[in-house]
Amino acid sequence: MENSTKNKPVLVLGIETSCDETAAAVVENGRVIRSNIVYSQIPLHEVYGGVVPEIAGRAHVEKIDLVVKQALQKADCTLHDLNAVAVTHGPGLVGALLVGVSYAKALALSLSCPLIGVNHIEGHIYANYLSYPDLNPPFLCLVASGGHSHIFSVDEAGDYTLIGCTQDDAAGEAFDKAARILQLPYPGGPRLDKLADEGDPDALSLPRPKLQGRYDYSFSGLKTAFINAIHHKEQKNEPYKRADMAASFRKAVVEMLVEKTMLAADDFKTKKVLLAGGVAANSLLRKRLREECSKRGIAFYLPDLSLCGDNAAMIAAAGYQGFIKGERAPLSLNAQPALRVRCIPSDAT
Ligand code: KG4
Ligand code: ZN
Repeated sequence: MENSTKNKPVLVLGIETSCDETAAAVVENGRVIRSNIVYSQIPLHEVYGGVVPEIAGRAHVEKIDLVVKQALQKADCTLHDLNAVAVTHGPGLVGALLVGVSYAKALALSLSCPLIGVNHIEGHIYANYLSYPDLNPPFLCLVASGGHSHIFSVDEAGDYTLIGCTQDDAAGEAFDKAARILQLPYPGGPRLDKLADEGDPDALSLPRPKLQGRYDYSFSGLKTAFINAIHHKEQKNEPYKRADMAASFRKAVVEMLVEKTMLAADDFKTKKVLLAGGVAANSLLRKRLREECSKRGIAFYLPDLSLCGDNAAMIAAAGYQGFIKGERAPLSLNAQPALRVRCIPSDAT
């Protein structure tokens, strides 16, 4: 039986295992975090310089049950209090996704509880709903993570239009690669961000690509130019400060993201801009988008730092939206490593 939603808050258990975080959370009415447990696998992957899919899958299997139990305990509820189980079913690493999906399906079946399949990228967007309880569409959202970089326009009904995206690397991926060249340990993005604070952002000039899509961007050329510049300096024994290089790279990536997001915001006459995804933790990106939005009188929203990276509270928040719309996933729900956000067609890309 589906638990009654009359008078009682709707409790959704979120489960996230798409990459290297095993996470479970209980969220009330899609907006209030009752618990948010994240077990990070960073120490397991650090030695390899990146995520090893087999290790990730195995670690999820070992931790998922414990993490869910902790989430319920912290939320002061039992499995029988849950109104729905929401799980990330893509995009991500197939072996990692399968752990969460299988666990969520078994739980939903045993509890006769609705199962909601959540797209990880949508989850990142809904992290903002946890930080701003009154936030609702329409809005424009830049989602920048390790695997994806998109600009979505979301209308009153909550329907998405993809208006721009990276033509090659995702923003987080570019940060991680640049960090590697600077010999920073995995995950490089946050470390490069910190190092950049001590450097001169104008020390190295980097190219800005010309692209066909008005709101599209690209990081591959920038990354290659950065790698070449560092190699060149090393070959010529030319001294350089790693902090200067980090600051110059961060400036170039952030400028590109801000320029395209604000171009779209101006064209679409948007009143709200949201930032989401792991790269939303980038200090310069947060600052620059806030400044540009403020100049134009646009309201700017960004998740708390603790909700930028992968977590299950955002999955529960997104799952709640599906739950109230009556969406239910069948028990044949499968991991979809290349799952895309369901969008309405656009002429802009
Ligand atoms: O959303 P996320 O946690 O995982 C994916 O869905 O991919 O994003 C992780 C990405 C990594 O590439 C990481 O280096 C990057 O976000 N990241 C950052 C910062 N914090 C995390 N990149 C730049 N600056 C940061 N402060
Ligand atoms: Zn993510």
